[in-house]
Amino acid sequence: MNDLDQLLADAQADFQAATTPADLENAKARYLGKAGRLTELLKGLAALPHEAKKTRGAQINAAKQQVEAALQARRQALADAELEAQLQAESLDVTLPGRQRGTGGLHPVSRTMERIEAIFGSMGFEVADGPEIETDWYSFTALNNPENHPARSMQDTFYVDLKDAEGRWLNLRPHTSPMQVRHARAHAARYAGVDPMPEIRVIAPGRTYRVDSDATHSPMFHQCEGLWIGENVSFKDLKSVFLDFFRRFFETEALQLRFRPSFFPFTEPSAEVDIAFDSGPLKGRWLEVAGSGQVHPNVVRNFGLDPERHIGFAFGMGPDRLTMLRYGVNDLRLFFDGDLRFLSQFR
Ligand code: DAH
Repeated sequence: MNDLDQLLADAQADFQAATTPADLENAKARYLGKAGRLTELLKGLAALPHEAKKTRGAQINAAKQQVEAALQARRQALADAELEAQLQAESLDVTLPGRQRGTGGLHPVSRTMERIEAIFGSMGFEVADGPEIETDWYSFTALNNPENHPARSMQDTFYVDLKDAEGRWLNLRPHTSPMQVRHARAHAARYAGVDPMPEIRVIAPGRTYRVDSDATHSPMFHQCEGLWIGENVSFKDLKSVFLDFFRRFFETEALQLRFRPSFFPFTEPSAEVDIAFDSGPLKGRWLEVAGSGQVHPNVVRNFGLDPERHIGFAFGMGPDRLTMLRYGVNDLRLFFDGDLRFLSQFR
């Protein structure tokens, strides 16, 4: 093996031994760099006679091209290996389970609201919606709850740092009852001069607020107001509407209903509505589910109607309580904690 063959063999071995691009560049310098072996050989040509210079020069150049080709081949091999390693590292395991997009579901109280609306809707009740920030007049005064009357303390109200046109603090409505007044006034205005006036049959579900917090009270909770005003409506009618509603809501005929005398400023007489199941875990226990009564003449006047002619009934119930009873939930706060372990059970 002549010296050039040896040099080529050495270069190939060195390049092969390089496992990184940096190693390879170092190896390259040993042959092709300023002080590299091939460069030294080329410098040595100067000392040779003319003819010898020509043949030797051609031989060295041929060797140099082979070294360069070997270098290029190794460069490519290293680049390929690196790409391969990268692809390996990034490879997808297509057998892994995919990332799931969670399925949402209606909140249990929203389900109850929808059921209430559907059942009352089927009995000819409209569904009305109204403001959660109320004036003093709608929340209290119009409902026969005059200023300084002790009945106002039945509700521990949140006030908003803003006053209405009468200079009274606005409040977060402590009940949905203001919607009776808002809806009835709008109805009376719409049918002014129409005789007889079409009946008012409306429910108004929504959020309500009180300074109250324990396992069965939350500062924000839900109510559903109801109002039924006609010229010939009686407690008997109200009872049949309630009985029908609760039997459909709880999906059982085996349910009793009673009125129990009570007091509300906006109704006279007033009654609490209790139900009892004939079977199941709550069998035989009277459960309070709503307040109700014949709308007080003062309130009917505030509707803009004549209490001698327009009588009827109002009621208010708690959708949160109904949801607890329907699903056997014993802590109201679970509805408002936003814990998916609880909520996803209702999907
Ligand atoms: N507003 C009452 C409350 O928050 C509930 C209520 C009772 C509403 C009797 C009524 C009613 O319309 O007639 O406790």
